[in-house]
Amino acid sequence: MKILLVGCNGQLGWELQRTLPYFGELLSVDFPEIDLSNADSVQSVVTSFKPHVVINAAAYTDVDRAESQPELCMKVNCDGPKFLAEACDQNQSVLVHYSTDYVFSGETDRPYREDDQPGPVSVYAESKLRGEQAIQATFDRFLILRTAWMYSLRASSFLTKVLSWSEKSAEISVVDDQISNPTWARAMAEMTTLMLARLESQAWPASLMGIYHLAGDGYTSRYEWAKAIIEIANQHQVKVNPAKSEDFHTPARRPRFSALDCSKFYQAFDLRLPSWQACLRLSMKK
Ligand SMILES: NC(=O)c1ccc[n+]([C@@H]2O[C@H](COP(=O)([O-])OP(=O)(O)OC[C@H]3O[C@@H](n4cnc5c(N)ncnc54)[C@H](OP(=O)(O)O)[C@@H]3O)[C@@H](O)[C@H]2O)c1
Repeated sequence: MKILLVGCNGQLGWELQRTLPYFGELLSVDFPEIDLSNADSVQSVVTSFKPHVVINAAAYTDVDRAESQPELCMKVNCDGPKFLAEACDQNQSVLVHYSTDYVFSGETDRPYREDDQPGPVSVYAESKLRGEQAIQATFDRFLILRTAWMYSLRASSFLTKVLSWSEKSAEISVVDDQISNPTWARAMAEMTTLMLARLESQAWPASLMGIYHLAGDGYTSRYEWAKAIIEIANQHQVKVNPAKSEDFHTPARRPRFSALDCSKFYQAFDLRLPSWQACLRLSMKK
């Protein structure tokens, strides 16, 4: 089994680079060996390696900067997946691609299911939705995994930011009106690899292709998440205050409630991520 991993230096890609070799022969690439915004670059990497599976963990992920760089963001997040899907279609490869809870508007009170209506509220979110649509319009042999609030100690993430704020300040303010599923990048990489093993053992059934939600089990607010981080880090002297999104003037809007219902993935693959609290504790273990 030959696997092409695109975006190997990113938060998720770095973890995938460690789990995917259990499953097959891996070629890992990132920018500039591959440029997702360039069709020839994508085509040439896929055609020369001829992978059975392409895993795309690369994306333009700076949600705020995307508001002032919409063209670049669209190229990477919409054209890129389209070029990958076209190359996979020609090469008869399966494409595994990641998307986001931010494709939803957040105006709901229950976790989103795969067939709920998207309603992106930022440039980044719109670009990720268009990327999904471009793949779906190209071919059928894809798995799109929508995940949420990914973090790790290795990359710059909400986890590392809260730890860094707590070292510098006695009090921090964190929004309590954004709710979703904190997802440990390593657990996401492990689930992806186990999912591939299930698909391989069943000869890649067409019935299992499609869009899935996959994120840490359970959901919470950024405020409660920050409090859990502070507690596990034993920084009990730091006070966490609840704040509102409108208190922080960020260029991009975020959904209010974008938690994902992952039951379709659980049922299809008989796999589930542990609770977000268990993953957080494991991720912070020295
Ligand atoms: N992080 C989250 O909270 C979150 C939540 C939901 C969904 N997701 C999705 O999960 C996936 C992985 O996210 P992540 O946090 O691991 O992202 P990340 O850490 O930002 O990594 C993305 C990687 O893509 C590379 N890249 C950017 N532009 C490229 C281009 N034109 N061609 C090739 N590679 C390019 C980046 O390289 P440079 O660093 O050199 O730019 C980086 O190595 C993405 O699809 C993201 O949308 C993430």
